[in-house]
Amino acid sequence: MSLLSDRFDPGPQIAQCGSINLGTKSLEKSLSFFRDTLGMEEVERRGNVSYLRCYQELGHHSLVLTEQDEAIVNAYSFRVRRPQDVELFHDALKQQDIEVVEVPAGTEAGRGTAIRFLLPGGEHPFELYFDIDKPRAPEALRSRLPSNSSKRRGLGVRRIDHFNIQTSPSTINQAEQWVRDNLGFKRREFAYLPDQPDTVMASWMSVTPQVHDLAIVANRLDKKAQLHHVAFNLQDFSDVLTAADVIRDLEVSYGVGPGKHGIGQAMYLYVFDPGSDHRVELYAGGYLIFDPDWEAIEWKKENFPEGLTWYGDPIDTAPGSRGRDTTGSAGLRRK
Ligand SMILES: [Fe+2]
Repeated sequence: MSLLSDRFDPGPQIAQCGSINLGTKSLEKSLSFFRDTLGMEEVERRGNVSYLRCYQELGHHSLVLTEQDEAIVNAYSFRVRRPQDVELFHDALKQQDIEVVEVPAGTEAGRGTAIRFLLPGGEHPFELYFDIDKPRAPEALRSRLPSNSSKRRGLGVRRIDHFNIQTSPSTINQAEQWVRDNLGFKRREFAYLPDQPDTVMASWMSVTPQVHDLAIVANRLDKKAQLHHVAFNLQDFSDVLTAADVIRDLEVSYGVGPGKHGIGQAMYLYVFDPGSDHRVELYAGGYLIFDPDWEAIEWKKENFPEGLTWYGDPIDTAPGSRGRDTTGSAGLRRK
């Protein structure tokens, strides 16, 4: 048994959501939101690109703000479990005839070699990496707690939490199945489209005990690649309420919330980065899954509204609700 377990190789795996690279039309406005209001640390600035992390993140960055003409999403980055997994994923993608480009070390500051590809069925630009620097914060910002990179400041976002991406109903089944089969995400909760009972409307998936590190939702505008939101984690429900109170008084566009999701059982507040207009969710709580034989929970039409909003300000599900195209496919061909 011990010999067998020593030899067991699970293959390449995803460890966590790593970072998102957001295009913004105004770095200054985005910094005032993420750094000054949410309390992130600006770890490094390279020209028109800023690298930030939350106060409980030891890695170099979880957010890259790139000032550019189009406020698209340049990359969704996931950290893999072992250094060799970057190359193993590269080979596995090539075997499926998926175009992959190597992103050299240092292309994103503080990060090692990554690979980049477009999500099959979604066209979202995904990047996988392992190596990331763990710089200490400047002394004035540094926390005395060794598990915190910096002192808690602003509204106190402590880590990146999840991505919620959209693709079209015609490709969502392919995209959702692909991330489960190839990246190891487990489906935790889901719903089918009421009028297309074999088509996923939304699926919440994770590689960690969280209910979701990645959600994929059918886009009723029939677009293949949109960001619905990126979520950052706050410690407590009361922090979300404080955030709502503070942000109401700022020049920040306010979405829905605060409220509590039935799905995942976390509290939400959606606001918009004033620089990029990307939707950001401030998120706290939620249950954790440790069962190895977890069976995905299906939400039927009649209960779905309370899945979205258990209590509080209801989620806007109108087809025209804002989503931002994620067309950052530089170097990759769309199929
Ligand atoms: Fe979310």
